[in-house]
Amino acid sequence: PPLGRMINIQDIEEIAKKILPYKAMAYYASAADDSISCVENARAFSRFFFRPRVMKAVSGVDPSTTMLGYKSSIPVYISGSALARLGHPLGEVNLTRAAYKSGILQMVSSNSSLSYAQIAAARGSSEQPLLFQLYKHKNDDIAARRIREVEELGYKAICLTVDALVPSNRELDTRASHYLEEYENEGKITRGNAADKSGDVSTLGTAGGLIVNNDLDMTWEKTIPWIRSVTKLPIVVKGIQCVADAVLAVEAGCEGIVLSNHGGRQLDYSLPPMEVLYKIRCERPDVFAKTEVYIDGGVRRGTDILKALCLGARMVGLGRAFLYAQSAYGEAGAIHLVRILEREIKFAMTSLGVRTIDQLAPELVERVDWQPL
Ligand code: FNR
Repeated sequence: PPLGRMINIQDIEEIAKKILPYKAMAYYASAADDSISCVENARAFSRFFFRPRVMKAVSGVDPSTTMLGYKSSIPVYISGSALARLGHPLGEVNLTRAAYKSGILQMVSSNSSLSYAQIAAARGSSEQPLLFQLYKHKNDDIAARRIREVEELGYKAICLTVDALVPSNRELDTRASHYLEEYENEGKITRGNAADKSGDVSTLGTAGGLIVNNDLDMTWEKTIPWIRSVTKLPIVVKGIQCVADAVLAVEAGCEGIVLSNHGGRQLDYSLPPMEVLYKIRCERPDVFAKTEVYIDGGVRRGTDILKALCLGARMVGLGRAFLYAQSAYGEAGAIHLVRILEREIKFAMTSLGVRTIDQLAPELVERVDWQPL
């Protein structure tokens, strides 16, 4: 169906799941164990309701904001997700071009299916900010080389993923027995970045071949200062799952944190990030003044995004939705996805009685203790 028929994220996801090769679909859609966290990530948003204010001047509603000082047309970024070329030959480049044309930021995965240089070369201008998602290699020299490489290529931040040290149990992915090598042999992946092949791919599916050689001994005391010693780039820690770690990230001086459970793909029964955000708002609201707080996982609607922003999130990341959009419709699909979200965000802002993002406030939402259907 033509792209214009896609009126929400769900529509795009359904088409993508029809056209994706089974093994690619299994990798993109998969989640840990029984998919509880994956499902609850999305459901958590439905426990938050709005308290809209009326009779507020809202003409010229403006959903633009900034992330680490870089302008973004809407409070949404493309979260770093591996292997975009499984879904479309241009893969990550679709996302880079779409990010430029729609004025949003892209986080580039350590396990991208194109080289970091190829992705940087797809920027619409040298000013287009790209953020780099880092899986820190256990060998410091190798990790330092990678950080310096992306800094030289012009990437603007190091987003250290801390919630995926080892491969998890993703049964959809495993059953699809998707061997990365197969795709490689078919020429669908140039494996510039994907880690070496020592992972036991045969029993762990695609993810098992990617999440290997990670540093299992990272600590706040050691690892953040070590990254600082290698680069001047701001540091964002991706994968914060409780209030205590948000506070420790602030104390370690991180410029940003991502409340995330990896889209429910790592530890099943880790709390939905929206609930973690709510706990930080209730217990340690000082965190929001000391670092930028982002959130990802289960975002489907403009209203989800605004609820998170009301509670103090600065930006919201989407993983699967962008993979699906570019798989089904290439660059145009990812641009269309941003337009859908922009329309939903503007409508909801107008209806909430806010004209600019900085007017979103905790008073505009409340959490209910029942789960809507
Ligand atoms: C991911 N994610 C991820 N995160 C990361 O830090 N490095 C990575 O390489 C990947 N790879 C990856 C592949 C695929 C197929 C998916 C779906 C996700 C996690 C991603 O950045 C983000 O945290 C979640 O996708 C957010 O949840 P939603 O938006 O997919 O619900």
